[in-house]
Formats: sequence, structure tokens, C-alpha cells
Amino acid sequence: SDGAGVVEAVGSEVTLWKKGDRVLPIFAQKWFDGAPNMDNLRSTLGGPNDGCLAHYGKFSEEGLVATPSHLTDKEAATLGCAGLTAYNAVVNFGGIEPGSDVLCLGTGGVSLFALQFAKMMGARVIITSSSDEKLARAKTLGADETINYATKTNWERDVRKHTKMAGADLIIEVGGAGTMQKSMMSVKPYGTIALIGVLAGGESSLSLYPILMQGVKVQGVIVGNRSDFTRMNRAIEQNKMKPVVDKVFGWKEVPEALEYLQTGKHFGKVVVNWE
Ligand SMILES: NC(=O)c1ccc[n+]([C@@H]2O[C@H](COP(=O)([O-])OP(=O)(O)OC[C@H]3O[C@@H](n4cnc5c(N)ncnc54)[C@H](OP(=O)(O)O)[C@@H]3O)[C@@H](O)[C@H]2O)c1
Repeated sequence: SDGAGVVEAVGSEVTLWKKGDRVLPIFAQKWFDGAPNMDNLRSTLGGPNDGCLAHYGKFSEEGLVATPSHLTDKEAATLGCAGLTAYNAVVNFGGIEPGSDVLCLGTGGVSLFALQFAKMMGARVIITSSSDEKLARAKTLGADETINYATKTNWERDVRKHTKMAGADLIIEVGGAGTMQKSMMSVKPYGTIALIGVLAGGESSLSLYPILMQGVKVQGVIVGNRSDFTRMNRAIEQNKMKPVVDKVFGWKEVPEALEYLQTGKHFGKVVVNWE
């Protein structure tokens, strides 16, 4: 769904781009601003439309945004899906302010972007991982508190302890059904759970009482629109933020790249380079 490239040729009526410009395709090619609708949600790259795992692509001029100038294409290729999803969850839906507590689940692409945006906004970040080594790396990115969810299986209690028993203001929920109940126990009353992924399952039987008894907001996130992408890139440029790229695979190593992703050994993003 995400990628980066260079403009090779433009149509005669194109005004936004010229040959040689560095650009990033937007996830939903027809979603430019505001809330999505059923039509523009059907214009997404990587299904139903062809995605970015290609040497060449054809886009409308509004289907692209400019690449942040301080990033390489390999770094910027990570922004269009995981980056924008995390930006929307933290900045637009998070309802946070400096000093808020943000909980990020795991150290995958979305969660590390969320960590970086939350720190940019002056929040305190608690992050979980199944690996102590990854937690140590998350500290170098600014994580304030770390929890190993593999050894601390009741991690919601640790989140409470780290927030003076108040609960987190915002949870970046990438686990889905398998972690949602614990997220409900980790969030503060009137806090927000940004529901993004289903790494730990998409269906289960959950007790919904914590949501209504504590006025919790559960906000589904579907990447974001062109205007959000442009605003995110400005924030990234002004803060000289660098996406966390774990490993770059060559064009002929796509199967290996997918297998590597499946092992869960990565920290941040995995990139395929076409050269
Ligand atoms: N809604 C949207 O718009 C949107 C956009 C992008 C992605 N997504 C979805 O969001 C999810 C995350 O995407 P991603 O790109 O960040 O994936 P990813 O990079 O593959 O994340 C993998 C990491 O997630 C962590 N994880 C897995 N199971 C976990 C669990 N039970 N509890 C806590 N952490 C767990 C692990 O971290 P550790 O190794 O540190 O344990 C794992 O390494 C996926 O389901 C993806 O499809 C949704």
C-alpha cells in the first residue's frame, strides 16, 4: 500500500509535478480531505487497486504528495500507510496534550511511528514488546516506560502502575481482539483506544462494560487522507524525524522480505528496494 518514487513523465495538463520530482502515492487515491466515503475507500492501493510493489505506477496528480526532503526514498516509502495511520491515531484522534500518557503495543511499524509522534507532541510513552532487546531500542527512540508483554502477561497492571493508577490517555491498539480486553483495562476514563490492527486476532468475545462504564472512546483508524499526509510530512520535515527502517531487501528478495516480516523479528519497517 505504500511506496516512494520519482516522477518519470507527466500528462499535458498536470500542474502539480514535473519529471524528477520525488513523490509518495497516497493510500486511498480518491480520498483527499475530510471524512472518507464508501467510494473513496474503494480507491486504496494494495487492494482493490494495484499497490506499490512495482517498478512503475500511473497516478492522478492528486494521488501523490511530495517526499520530505531530508528522507531517502527507502525511509519515505514507509510513510504512506504505517506512518499516516500512526499520525492520525496520535495527532487527529488521540486527544492528547503535552504530559499525556500514550501506550503503544509492540514495536512494529505503526507502533514505532506512534511513539515518535507522541514524543513530538510532548507525551509520555509506554511501550510493550515480547523482546527486552527491542524494548531497549525503543528507549533510545524516547520511550519512557517499557513492558515485556511476554513475561508480564498481566501488562495492564503495569500500565496502571506507570500512570499512577490513572490509566493511559491513548492506546495504540494493533493487537485487536487478542489485546483489546487488556487495553480496556489500561485506558483511563474518557480515554481513547485507537483500533488499528488485528495482529492478535480479529474476533473474540469481549466484555464491553469498561467502554460504557468509563466512557472510553474506541476509534477505528483507516490510514488517512491526502491533506493529513501533507500535514504529517510537514511535521516530519520540521522535526527532522527519521522513520525506523529495520531492513532493506532487494527487488528479487520479495519472498524473503515477506517471510522475514512474518517472523516478527523486525523493529519498525521492512522495505523492498527496486534497484
Ligand atoms: N487500520 C489501518 O489503517 C492500518 C494501517 C497499517 C497497519 N494496520 C494493521 O496494524 C497492525 C500493525 O501493523 P504494523 O505494520 O505495525 O505491523 P508489524 O510491523 O508487522 O508489527 C509486528 C509487531 O507487532 C507486535 N505484536 C504482535 N502481536 C502482538 C500482541 N499480541 N501484543 C502486542 N504487540 C504485538 C510485535 O512486536 P514485538 O516484536 O515488539 O513483540 C510484532 O513484532 C497490523 O494488523 C496491520 O495490518 C492497520
